[in-house]
Amino acid sequence: MELSERLKKIPPYLFVELDRLKNEKMKEGVDVIDLGIGDPDIPTPKEIIEVAKKALENSLYHRYPSNIGSFFFRKACANYMKKRFGISFDPESEIIALIGSKEGIAHFPIAFVNPGDIVLSPDPSYPVYHLSTIFNHGIPYYLPLTWENDFLPDFTKVPTNVLQKTKIIWINYPNNPTGAISKKDFFEEVIKLAKKYNWIVAHDAAYIEIYYEDPPLSIFEIDGAKDVAIEFHSLSKTFCMTGWRIGFAVGNSFLISALAKVKSNIDSGVFTAIQEAGAYALNNLEKIVPPLVNTFKKRRDFLAEELRKLGYQFKKPFATFYLWIKTPEGISSQQFCEKLLKITGLVVTPGIGFGKAGEGYFRIALTVDDQKLKEAVKRLSTLRL
Ligand SMILES: Cc1ncc(COP(=O)(O)O)c(C=O)c1O
Repeated sequence: MELSERLKKIPPYLFVELDRLKNEKMKEGVDVIDLGIGDPDIPTPKEIIEVAKKALENSLYHRYPSNIGSFFFRKACANYMKKRFGISFDPESEIIALIGSKEGIAHFPIAFVNPGDIVLSPDPSYPVYHLSTIFNHGIPYYLPLTWENDFLPDFTKVPTNVLQKTKIIWINYPNNPTGAISKKDFFEEVIKLAKKYNWIVAHDAAYIEIYYEDPPLSIFEIDGAKDVAIEFHSLSKTFCMTGWRIGFAVGNSFLISALAKVKSNIDSGVFTAIQEAGAYALNNLEKIVPPLVNTFKKRRDFLAEELRKLGYQFKKPFATFYLWIKTPEGISSQQFCEKLLKITGLVVTPGIGFGKAGEGYFRIALTVDDQKLKEAVKRLSTLRL
């Protein structure tokens, strides 16, 4: 048996050794605190669960769902986009339901990437952008996100022939793993370049509701964005619903219809009962989300203060539930994370796992409760490398 060429091109999973160590520590009886995964510990709010429970009884929902999503769900997405960003979208042609935003992000390039096409992908980043490029025989071109440039790509460093050959650019703000947000002028620059070089702009907005200062922008708040852009939204982090698998894509109708064509040949849509819960959540966002975000804010403030006292260097994030922290001098991010786990039982994610430019950093996810966070700080303070 031989793997396909495309699968062979996918690099090995970088966290294998860390996972092994974590399991070993747990077997030894160590109380491992996992600050590695971006998966909220907070349960989905009760009222969303109640809507889903009731929806389960609807026998119409036991049949195949609508492939692009039920109209009521797409309408709730359109209402949210209008209310939150002031932009109107046609639920019929400009919105599609996704089985989590990862599904849409992974499938979207099938519609547009031909072998040899360049896809601009941030580095460090959520890995699906460049991996889905490789799956489609495209060529990822990495845009380093540096501390000096506030973790935004610098297009002046990209050769013109690359800009000319680019098919898709992926951007993600608020950003995983750096916690950075985008200013309006950066989005304006992206849209301007996209029009000049004929790019598709794919904006991953998975963390757009997890913010602690000014509300982050949608790419569609930029004039003309609808001509070239698609935006991926997720209910996972916003409503602590990672396990439910629901999100949506919104934007240019040609881009949406192309994604719909791909999806209609691969999956059969989101379970309608979950869409009903998702629509309820979106329609009640202002009521449901603030207490959740407040919990993350308190954790962010606590951890940021304690880490500063311990001498760690980072930019306090305005959004997301991640802290992107410089590793101590003279040790790689992988070595640091392995040592940290061995010595203290703390799991954090090495920056290198998010791309070459992630070297020199590690990521902490604020996805454990206050008590565990306090204990984590205590253990960190005892760390001697
Ligand atoms: C940046 C980013 N985008 C997208 C996703 C996928 O989220 P989901 O598929 O749960 O909507 C994640 C998940 O961690 C993420 O970090």
